[in-house]
Amino acid sequence: MRATAKANSNIALIKYWGKRNERLILPTNNSLSVTLDGLYTETTVHFQEGRTEDAFTLNNEPITGIPFERVTEFLDIFRSYVGKHNLYAQVDSINHVPTAAGFASSASGFAALAAATAKALQLDLSNEQLSKFTRQGSGSACRSVYGGFVEWEKGELDDGSDSFAVQIAPQEHWDLRIAAVVLTAQEKDVSSRDGMKLTVDTSLFYDGWLAGIPHDLQEIKSGIAARDFEKVGSIAEANCLKMHATTLGANPPFTYWQDSTMAVMQTVHLLRTKGTLAYFTIDAGPNVKVLYLPEDEEQVLRTIRQVDAVTDIIVSKVGDGISYQ
Ligand code: DP6
Repeated sequence: MRATAKANSNIALIKYWGKRNERLILPTNNSLSVTLDGLYTETTVHFQEGRTEDAFTLNNEPITGIPFERVTEFLDIFRSYVGKHNLYAQVDSINHVPTAAGFASSASGFAALAAATAKALQLDLSNEQLSKFTRQGSGSACRSVYGGFVEWEKGELDDGSDSFAVQIAPQEHWDLRIAAVVLTAQEKDVSSRDGMKLTVDTSLFYDGWLAGIPHDLQEIKSGIAARDFEKVGSIAEANCLKMHATTLGANPPFTYWQDSTMAVMQTVHLLRTKGTLAYFTIDAGPNVKVLYLPEDEEQVLRTIRQVDAVTDIIVSKVGDGISYQ
């Protein structure tokens, strides 16, 4: 009853931003991501008869409090599924991602946890079923089950049975690069979970956000199919800006951006005015991810490194889905 799984992180080009059911983690809109090969989590789950509670280590440190509760509540979903309510586990994760700095560590984390748990329990799940379990740990994680380009179908049903991710193009379809630009490794102030709830509940701009989604999705999917980088990059960047605009219309208003975030955004714009195609996207934190084509790598990285606040750059190619050790 022991298994180890590795899951890559992902970056949304069309963002998931808002829930229609918080307990089941059902989103208000479809989202679309690229799986990243440079940011990942490896997790071992070991269920042991006779244990009286779960234990969780992250990067070899014992974890308590809310992060531990999220893991143990997630394992409860599997315990209910197999009808073994008193079967507890030792969970050990190594996160190759700067935790909680907006690099979607919860995405690779819950995808690896779900996959290792299912394997340790010898459940033979389809990717669709695994994605549904993973979704209940953290929404964006359900996309990390797959490699390549992935869409999370929001679904319509109240029980969440039609809310899961599907692959829309494999890893080999397109050799894009994504630079995760590290500006700060500090814990963020407002989690994505709290930020999206405050936005859904209070933002004057939330309806506008939802209204733009069908067009953005349709256009980006046709851009991915045609490997049209200008189209995909410009839609992704605009979608990110619309998501972040909703936070300014919340009550109280807030933003994930810092001065350094703006500095990188402006540098990406400058690259474009000088003829290099590069586009940014930002999740619920200050750090920026920059999309570009392989032939522009040297130019893009050299230019971004010149921004004072940049402490590190982690370059990813398009990654693959879950794997098992
Ligand atoms: C801005 O998946 O972290 O990164 O479902 O509450 O765990 P929960 O939220 P989470 O939210 C991610 C939000 C985002 C956009 C995205 O990844 O699509």
